[in-house]
Amino acid sequence: MNGVEIRAVAHYVPPRVLTNDEISRWVDTSDEWITERTGISTRHISDGENTSDLAVKVAKQLLDAAKLSPTELDLILVATTTGDYNSPTVSCIVQEAIGATNVPALDVNAACTGFIYGFSTAQKFLQSGGNGYKTVMVIGAEVLTKYSDWTDRGTCILFGDGAGGVILSASEKNTYGEKLHARGDKAITVNHQEVENPFSNKKRSLGHIAVDGQEVFKFAVKSVAENIAELMAHMNMSLDEVDYIIPHQANKRIIDGIAKKLKIDLSKFYMNIERFGNTSAASIPIALSEMFKNGILKKGNKVILAGFGGGLTWGSILLEI
Ligand code: COA
Repeated sequence: MNGVEIRAVAHYVPPRVLTNDEISRWVDTSDEWITERTGISTRHISDGENTSDLAVKVAKQLLDAAKLSPTELDLILVATTTGDYNSPTVSCIVQEAIGATNVPALDVNAACTGFIYGFSTAQKFLQSGGNGYKTVMVIGAEVLTKYSDWTDRGTCILFGDGAGGVILSASEKNTYGEKLHARGDKAITVNHQEVENPFSNKKRSLGHIAVDGQEVFKFAVKSVAENIAELMAHMNMSLDEVDYIIPHQANKRIIDGIAKKLKIDLSKFYMNIERFGNTSAASIPIALSEMFKNGILKKGNKVILAGFGGGLTWGSILLEI
């Protein structure tokens, strides 16, 4: 088998909660519209913490939970589209902050599919035989709101900030499979323009998110449903054998559409979009961490992680807990 074992999970979201009613004070929207069209009620937003601050908090929790010292890590991967700098990477900032002396560190940018690509990369390192990669930390961390255009009601309602992660080791017995894809398309972009951020005194020279909402919506429902079916065929399994699907949390109606297309009950999908909005590469590890912490996931459960987003990128992983 070429599986992985999850040795620890953790997540962190900034304390500031932004409600739909607050947003409707500065753009023409309403709690009713946002809830009905997206499933989002609140999201956590950073009022100064950067992406690495969130990632470092998760990394420290992960080491505590796994009872590992930082130098016992063999690799640190951070999936993010919103790194503090182009360089140093968030993973290098984490490496220094936790004292993981000389441990290699790499960022993965696949937008909202970032955690899937990061997890897949970790699995390849862990299966690389005698090269000594036995323990890998994978974090998804984003402060998307530093790129939000707070005058655009079509996008500023969607995104929140957060981070989540896992520590993985190789497992000979756990089932594992994956199917990843990309199709270059600018339906979701982050442009380089200066924007004001009403939640921070700092003026940041970053950019804003532009989303072709309807195109992305259609792409997500179709691609994710097909991708999950493709993964099941690849694994020679049926969805009846899968306990949970943990989808990227972008819009509740997208998840409804995927369930409908796959003809499976919505209750198989874990959802927390109501509280967090779309946290991009952080959404799947935050969900995974919540599910462990709430005792939902049990040893032996088979779980699908399904991501999609900018790039365009999409992909799914079948995992045995
Ligand atoms: N409040 C009120 N009205 C809004 C609004 C808001 N926050 N945002 C858009 N509208 C309006 C539009 O202006 C439009 O008005 P019009 O008919 O007068 O032109 C109307 O609502 C319908 O817009 P539309 O874009 O068709 O809405 P929608 O049902 O597709 O919902 C999104 C818009 C963005 C919520 C939805 O398309 C979506 O979630 N797409 C995926 C985006 C995403 O998640 N991207 C990241 C993926 S990783």
